[in-house]
Amino acid sequence: MLLQESYPLKHLNTFGMDVSARYYAEITSRDDLSVIFDDPGFAANPHLVLGGGSNLLFRGNYDGTILHIRLRGKEIVAENKDNVFLKAAAGEPWDELVAFCVENGWGGLENLSLIPGQAGSSPIQNIGAYGVELKDHFHSLEAWCKKTGEVKIFNREDCRFAYRNSFFKGEGKGKYIILSVTFCLDKNPVIRTEYGGLMGELESMDCSSPDIADVRTAVCKIRKSKLPDPEITGNAGSFFKNPVVPEKTYRQLKKTHPGIFAFPDSGGMKLAAGWLIDQAGWKGYRDGDAGVHPKQALVLINHGEATGTDILNLASRIQESVKKHFGVALEPEVNIV
Ligand code: FAD
Ligand code: EPU
Repeated sequence: MLLQESYPLKHLNTFGMDVSARYYAEITSRDDLSVIFDDPGFAANPHLVLGGGSNLLFRGNYDGTILHIRLRGKEIVAENKDNVFLKAAAGEPWDELVAFCVENGWGGLENLSLIPGQAGSSPIQNIGAYGVELKDHFHSLEAWCKKTGEVKIFNREDCRFAYRNSFFKGEGKGKYIILSVTFCLDKNPVIRTEYGGLMGELESMDCSSPDIADVRTAVCKIRKSKLPDPEITGNAGSFFKNPVVPEKTYRQLKKTHPGIFAFPDSGGMKLAAGWLIDQAGWKGYRDGDAGVHPKQALVLINHGEATGTDILNLASRIQESVKKHFGVALEPEVNIV
């Protein structure tokens, strides 16, 4: 394993922040982790585990070691008449994994098509889209404990999945490195098209009885029409989470803002933050190279040379404005480094 100094990170974060790391190492085997964690020089500096860099915002250069997870491989570890249990190494690109499942006719992940990033990061915020969350097809994961160097198995309950949240963003934050994730996939897929827009897209494809390949095609089409391609415009997807408010708060907001978009959630009503930001007048706004995507106000974008601070300043102005207009607090989804 090679430890490199002053390593450029611009192409390793989808916001396209032009920053560098003091040290950088690619982790291609479990042995690499033992070696690096046994090194006293490494322990003296902070470190950051990096996947596809699609849910991160770097404020500036990273004064520590970036551990870039490059573990690869996937295998069927068990099978019965209904399910296939597929284990993917943490460094497998997420959308390649989804495409592989769809090609094999295994259902479950197709609504999560085209989400950037790696398989190993998918449980961290319990990725979700178009009516499905990772937890719905999660079986277990293997994680390397930084303190003991032992590998621990986490089942679904251990992971404490919630909306854009898990044990690894709370109590377990910074303590484990996910090595692999095992998914439970359906041999007889259940087609889920309830999420707004998906059914309409399938109808426009003339698809009255869709299969998982059709769902994948429709999800990819919708995503490409709304979300900026990070290869062209820097972004990290939704910058904020959709806020969950008590039912009573929602009813009051509905009186003053009849068009408000919300749907029931376990803790109350989940409001569409994109709608709130849009209604507060920010959609398409630009200040220097920091901006708000013209087609989806929940996505903050880097038009080229924005810094992490530029994006954070814009994010604070949006938070204040939404608070003033609606009395609702927005919490970032993106990990600020
Ligand atoms: P990174 O950004 O590299 O890391 C994210 C966090 O996980 C960091 O804290 C990092 O330290 C930690 N981490 C990464 N790998 C490991 C590991 N192996 N072990 C321990 N910790 C680790 N998200 C959704 O949920 N739904 C969407 O629809 C969606 N759409 C998006 C669209 C676009 C255009 C973009 C740019 C992003 C979108 N996202 C979406 C956000 C993002 O793609 C996901 O959160 C994704 O899972 C992040 O994966 P990553 O590998 O890039 O993680
Ligand atoms: N809306 C507006 N104006 C906007 C943006 C959205 O009015 O500028 C309205 C839409 O018209 C729609 C509603 O808000 O009625 C919801 O919008 P959308 O369907 O685009 O979904 P979202 O709630 O903004 C969430 C996730 C996305 C995920 C999509 C699809 C969060 C924070 N975001 O976005 O995830 O892809 O649903 O399921 O939950 C991500 O996490 O990075 C991400 C992109």
